[in-house]
Amino acid sequence: MHLAALHSPSQIQLNQQGNLKHFLTIEGLSKETLTKILDTAQSFFNDQNQLITTPLLEGRTVMNLFFENSTRTRTTFEAAAKRLSANVLNIDIARSSTSKGETLRDTLWNLEAMAADIFVVRHSSSGAAHFIAKDVCPNIAIINAGDGRHAHPTQAMLDMLTIRRETKKPFEDLKVAIIGDIKHSRVARSDIAALQTLGCRDIRVIAPNTLLPVGFDEYGDHVRLFNKMDDGVKDCDVIIALRIQNERIDSPALSSQAEFYRMYGLNQERLALAQPDCIVMHPGPMNRGVEIDSAIADGPQSVILNQVTNGIAVRMAVLALAMQGQAQAQGLIEAIAN
Ligand code: CP
Repeated sequence: MHLAALHSPSQIQLNQQGNLKHFLTIEGLSKETLTKILDTAQSFFNDQNQLITTPLLEGRTVMNLFFENSTRTRTTFEAAAKRLSANVLNIDIARSSTSKGETLRDTLWNLEAMAADIFVVRHSSSGAAHFIAKDVCPNIAIINAGDGRHAHPTQAMLDMLTIRRETKKPFEDLKVAIIGDIKHSRVARSDIAALQTLGCRDIRVIAPNTLLPVGFDEYGDHVRLFNKMDDGVKDCDVIIALRIQNERIDSPALSSQAEFYRMYGLNQERLALAQPDCIVMHPGPMNRGVEIDSAIADGPQSVILNQVTNGIAVRMAVLALAMQGQAQAQGLIEAIAN
C-alpha cells in the first residue's frame, strides 16, 4: 500500500463532537486527542505507581478478535478491559465458523447480536479495522490492534506514554531514533505519526534502503533517514529497536540476520554514542542477537517491560474513551465524562 493512502486523515474515528468513537489510526488525530489519551492512561496509575481497577465499563462487553497471533496486545487488552470491569470474550477465530466459509461480515454481525460493545481487532490485512468500523459495525467501538503493515495505534500510544513517563522531557526537546525494518512495520508508521503530532522535531529512521517503504519521503516533517547506525544514534534520548519481520518479507531484503546485526544491531558500543540516560525500547517480540543485544535488552537503560505495563493503562484509556464517544454519537450520553 502506498504511504499517501495511509496518511489521509481518518475522520471516521471521531464523533460529531470530535471525540474518539473508534481508534483506528494515529493519522488525522490532533495533539489534544493524543494528549487526552496519555493523560487518561496516566490517571489509571495510583500514587504507588500501580494500575487501578475502576467500574468505568461495568456491564459493557469487549470482544477480542485476533485474526493474527499476539502475546502482548491481546493479553493487555484483556487485562485492561477487566480493570475497567467489562465482560471480556476472547473469540477463538481459528475455531470459529470463518473456517467453514462464513464471511467476515456474517461473523461480526453475529457477534454484534451477542451484545458486543467494543471489538478489538487484529488482522493481517491493512485497512481491516477501518473496513469494519465504516462498513460492517459502525455502532460498535472498533479498536485497531494492528492491521497488516498499516497501523498499530495503541502500540504507538503506549510508546508515547513510556517516553513521557521515563524521559520527563517535552516531546519538542527529544531526539528519537527508530531502527530496523521500517518497510514492514506498522509500529514504525504509527510511532512516527504520534511523535510528529506530539511535537517531536528530531525523528531519525535508521535502516538500509532495502528496509524502507516506497514513498519514505512522504513521512513528512522532522524525519531524517540514516543508513549508518553510528550517525543515527548519536546524542539520542530514545532508541526504539524494531523486530525484523521475517513473516512479512517476501523477497530477500537482507543478506542475512548476522549481517543485519553487524550493521544495525543495538549493542553497548552503539548505545554509548547516545545520551547517557537514553532509554531503549522495543515493541516485542524481540529477536535477541539480531536487532538487539541481550545485554541491552535486559540492561539498566531498557524500558521494554515498562512498555508492556504502560500498554494496559493506554488500552484502558482507549477502551473507555471510545466507549464514551460511541455512546455520545448515539445520543446516549450528553458529554464526555473524563
Ligand atoms: N507489540 C506487539 O504488538 O506484540 P504482540 O504481537 O505480541 O501483540
